Amino acid sequence: MKQLLFPLTALACLLSLAIAGPAFAGHGGGNRPVRQGILLVAFGTTVPSANSALENIGTLAAKAFPGVEIRWAYTSRIVREVLAERGEHVDSPAEALATMGEDGFTHVAVQSLHTIPGEEFHNLLITVKRFENMPKGIEQIALGAPLLAAPADMDAVADALMASLPADRKAEDAVVLMGHGTHHPGNVYYPGMQYYFSRRDPNVLVGTVEGVPSLDDVSAALRERGVKRVFLMPFMAVAGDHATNDMAGNEEDSWKSVLSAQGFRCIPVLKGTGELDAVAAVWIEHLKAAFARLH
Ligand code: CO
Repeated sequence: MKQLLFPLTALACLLSLAIAGPAFAGHGGGNRPVRQGILLVAFGTTVPSANSALENIGTLAAKAFPGVEIRWAYTSRIVREVLAERGEHVDSPAEALATMGEDGFTHVAVQSLHTIPGEEFHNLLITVKRFENMPKGIEQIALGAPLLAAPADMDAVADALMASLPADRKAEDAVVLMGHGTHHPGNVYYPGMQYYFSRRDPNVLVGTVEGVPSLDDVSAALRERGVKRVFLMPFMAVAGDHATNDMAGNEEDSWKSVLSAQGFRCIPVLKGTGELDAVAAVWIEHLKAAFARLH
């Protein structure tokens, strides 16, 4: 029950962060000068080649906010632990916000680089609320929505992905977008996106690794359409472990192997949505909206 309330509270909290404003201005221990910063928060990845997607979003953010310091955090503890074993330290959101408070940041825009408002985003929301108005710390934090939140995002992302399909894809070829999927109520964004794609192109299908629609749903839809060639693309910010193994891997249970065994010719495209400038632009718009709420 508690979990079912999350999608509603998410928007309510985004709004409350937006209007919480003037009451907090000037708090935080006397004469601390205003210092604005940005924290980009991704799930994270252990696949080095997948970093280019996050770097691309970072580059676009830096271009949109010249002179504003940008820091990073990963929400996945497992990813952070694997990276730590390799000697690469990446902060958790709580670590990054604590350090930013100590370093004198008074106003921080935190941008979620998650795809849906699922478990990772809602945990980030809770963390952000705990750090706001911290004594001698950050006065105000504005949290930017994940890629998909409002109906306008769904249209923007559908348009952006349609504009980013491989150049050699023909109308009769299918495009299968592999999302992560989740047990969280936020999973509804995946079948939701299918509606937006279907209005644009009946051969663009959304599937998920851990939620609905499933690979079985996708393969039934492909058979129904009499499709022969299928482009497989991640519907995740990075082409990380899920994209390289679950989607495009050579093991017999990968999407490429399963669909190939069913007679479809599969062409994996190992590009995270963060590498597609048109999609990354939607995240940047959310960051601009969050930053604009800082005062
Ligand atoms: Co996963």
